[in-house]
Amino acid sequence: MEDKELFQMAESVLENAYAPYSKFKVGAALLSEDGRIFTGVNVENASYGGTICAERTACVKAVSEGAVNFRSIAVVSNKGKVCMCGICRQFISEFSMDIEVITGEDSEHLQSVKLRDLLPDSFTLQDNVEEGRKK
Ligand code: THU
Repeated sequence: MEDKELFQMAESVLENAYAPYSKFKVGAALLSEDGRIFTGVNVENASYGGTICAERTACVKAVSEGAVNFRSIAVVSNKGKVCMCGICRQFISEFSMDIEVITGEDSEHLQSVKLRDLLPDSFTLQDNVEEGRKK
């Protein structure tokens, strides 16, 4: 699966984003090691703190379906390039620091950065719990 294809999967769900408050629509497509793709959109809420980002929607869908090993995630918005927010960086770091985060203005202009580089010195409970991220 090429970055471009994954990005286009993210674009394909963008219109499903539920963003009546910010009007900032986001779509994500998460590629698991076994080749499955999980898409997600941001889902806002009148109680603003209840909002969930597209990346976490995709991740929650994946884990619910038994996928916890991820290769890459593509993210797109209706307002150009989007940078993954801090909460999503932390949330996804639970599963992998090596996941590639693919963003860009459009599918012809993509950048790919490892989560490890987007979230250095990240918080983990690795010394205190048996499950969860080990590196
Ligand atoms: N949002 C995402 O879905 N992903 C991000 O990485 C950044 C922000 C959403 C949350 C909210 O619905 C809207 O964009 C504006 O913050």
